[in-house]
Amino acid sequence: MSEPSPDPALFEKIVNLSKRRGFVFPSAEIYGGFRSTYDYGPIGVLLLRNVKDAWWRSMVQLRDDVVGLDAAILSPPAVWEASGHLATFSDPLVDCRHCGARHRQDKLDDPDVCPTCGTRGSFTEPRQFNLMFKTHAGPVEDDASVAYLRPETAQGIFVNFANVVNTSRKRPPFGIAQIGKSFRNEITPGNFVFRTREFEQMEMEYFVPPGDGPRWYEYWCAERFAWYVAHGIPEHQLRLRPHDADELSHYSSGTSDVEFLFPWGWDELEGIAQRTDFDLARHAEHSGEKLDWFDQATGTRYVPHVVEPAAGATRTMMAFLMAAYDEEEVRGEARTVLRLHPRLAPYKVAVLPLSKKAELTGPAREVLARLQPAFMCDYDETQAIGRRYRRQDELGTPYCVTFDFESLDDGAVTVRERDSMDQDRVAVGDLVAYLRGRLEV
Ligand code: GAP
Repeated sequence: MSEPSPDPALFEKIVNLSKRRGFVFPSAEIYGGFRSTYDYGPIGVLLLRNVKDAWWRSMVQLRDDVVGLDAAILSPPAVWEASGHLATFSDPLVDCRHCGARHRQDKLDDPDVCPTCGTRGSFTEPRQFNLMFKTHAGPVEDDASVAYLRPETAQGIFVNFANVVNTSRKRPPFGIAQIGKSFRNEITPGNFVFRTREFEQMEMEYFVPPGDGPRWYEYWCAERFAWYVAHGIPEHQLRLRPHDADELSHYSSGTSDVEFLFPWGWDELEGIAQRTDFDLARHAEHSGEKLDWFDQATGTRYVPHVVEPAAGATRTMMAFLMAAYDEEEVRGEARTVLRLHPRLAPYKVAVLPLSKKAELTGPAREVLARLQPAFMCDYDETQAIGRRYRRQDELGTPYCVTFDFESLDDGAVTVRERDSMDQDRVAVGDLVAYLRGRLEV
């Protein structure tokens, strides 16, 4: 089969749709925006939440070997000293002497040419730029009050290893999962929410006996790849790419990225890394606390090795949007539809009274109230019904429920399915069961 090619035009379509329909807004927009930061609007916040819930469902809820955690974002330098981030979490920064633009040297197409002004040979020597955001905790800005915003959620898991082991009855192999914000002072943020300075991660550290790392690494590579496919990204738009030795992070003995075919080409959604015993051993050494496991069966004590699937929630949300975006012609009219997996769809159902007349809106709101405890619903009574369907198609809403004049007599509503646009007449009393059976939520 030939290699699939990216669709560069899709990028602008997604950025426009995001703004127009309330998925993602540039942050502080009324002040001109703020340096590649973004706010998630009424629809985006639902989609992002659903992406995180889908991850949590498969990584925590459906397993008995993974527990959750929500650790602090602010942490003292000791954590980052031990993890190696203070010494090595940096990117090579070069300045163009001609136009003053700053670039990440390892991301340049041609390391000798400034992509901003096109000048050749104008770069300064690369210098290492640490990506962590530094701040001060408390009113005094001195060395003793230095704190860092976490650049990955993982370290909050490692420093809580003993707490979780002592309270959860889990034993290797087992995992600790966490979703939360991370911060990196990226030199070149960009591509919309793909690379930002503030973003959300979904990470799981899976602790295994030494020697079992490679086996679990294979397992998690396959599991995580399958998760994206199960949630609607076609397999041909995904690939698993092992890192070359010179790409590996300071803690990793082997990493593979799940990559998605973005409009600019293949790029990373998630890294699955073998972190060995690097983090636990370093934290044990720096803190003086024992971070190991006593295996009663064999009478041996060991520091568990770690396999880490680490995904970006915000980046993944964008990939789901791109994979779901479709345009088609229906009876001579263009239709844009987000074919999102129902579990990810911001609204599961939209309730639409055929007319704004009170005789329809009253009972339509009763139908809404019946559905709301079961599903996230939208309600819309403005514009012609066709325009309202198109709007819901653009939001990815799997089902529209229309309450019409006939509904007053037969107690039934029209249910329209997003992808096929097929319509069914369903009794109001059967509606929750009808939708639940089809929505897989
Ligand atoms: N704990 C390992 C770790 O943080 P990473 O590959 O640096 O590994 C994991 O990050 C995931 O977090 C990436 O695959 C990506 O999806 C997301 N991510 C990393 N930096 C990001 C950024 N600046 N903006 C948005 N997402 C980011």
